Amino acid sequence: MSTEAVIRAEAVGKNYRVGSSIIEAVGGFGLSVSPGEFVALMGPSGCGKSTLLNLFGCIDTPSSGRLEVFGRDVTAMSEGERAALRLRRIGFVFQRFYLLPVLTAYENVELPMLEARVSKHDRRTRVRELLERVGLSHRMHHRPYQLSGGEMQRVAIARALCNRPDLLIADEPTGELDRKTGAAILALIEELRSDGLAIVMATHDAHAAELADRIVDMERVAA
Ligand SMILES: Nc1ncnc2c1ncn2[C@@H]1O[C@H](COP(=O)(O)OP(=O)(O)OP(=O)(O)O)[C@@H](O)[C@H]1O
Ligand SMILES: [Mg+2]
Repeated sequence: MSTEAVIRAEAVGKNYRVGSSIIEAVGGFGLSVSPGEFVALMGPSGCGKSTLLNLFGCIDTPSSGRLEVFGRDVTAMSEGERAALRLRRIGFVFQRFYLLPVLTAYENVELPMLEARVSKHDRRTRVRELLERVGLSHRMHHRPYQLSGGEMQRVAIARALCNRPDLLIADEPTGELDRKTGAAILALIEELRSDGLAIVMATHDAHAAELADRIVDMERVAA
C-alpha cells in the first residue's frame, strides 16, 4: 500500500455565492489523513462539515487553499477525472441514504460497479458478499421503501464499499436513525477499519466520535 496521505488539506476554503452575497462555508481549514486512519469531524451545525466532506469526496472543488486527495490536486482535475477518482477510490455515505427508489437493494449496490464496468459475474459475487456482510442477504430484492432506516443505511454502506474504496466518507451516517440502529451502523463502520480503509465521518454524536483515532473539532482548526 502507498504511504501517501489520503487527504492533505492546507488552508482550504469554500465560498458560495447566494444572490449578491458571498457565504464562506469553510474558511482556511487544514487536515491530513493517513491511509487506514479514522477521523471524526465534529462541530456545530453550519460550521461547514458537509461542505468539507464534499470537497474531500471530490464532489466539489475548493475556492481557496490547496487540497490533495490521493496525491492529486483536486482543483487541477477535470470533472471527469474527479468522477473517475471518486468511482474507484472513494465511498460516500450520506445522512439521508440517497438510494435510488426504483432499484432494489441488490441493484443499488450493483450500480457503481456497472459504472466501473465490472463483469456481471464479479458484480453478482461482490453484491452478494457485501449484502451478507451488512446483514441484508434476506432483503436483497427489496426496494428502499420496503426497508427500515437502518436497513437503508446498510445498503448505502454496501454501495459505498462495492468498488473497494481506499477512503470512506460518512456524513452523519446515524443522524436519521434511532440510537440502537445507529449503534449497529457504527459497529459496522468500525469493522471496516480492519479493511485498512481511511474513514472520515462527520457526526454530532460524541459516542460515535470516540470510535475514531482522532477527533477534529472544525471550529477550533485553523490552517
Ligand atoms: N450550496 C450552498 N449555497 C450556499 N450556502 C451554502 C451551501 N451549502 C452550504 N451552505 C452554507 O454553508 C455553511 C456550512 O454548511 P454545511 O452544510 O457544510 O454545514 P454542516 O456543518 O454540515 O452543518 P450540519 O451539522 O447542520 O449538517 C452553512 O452556513 C450553509 O448555510
Ligand atoms: Mg452537514
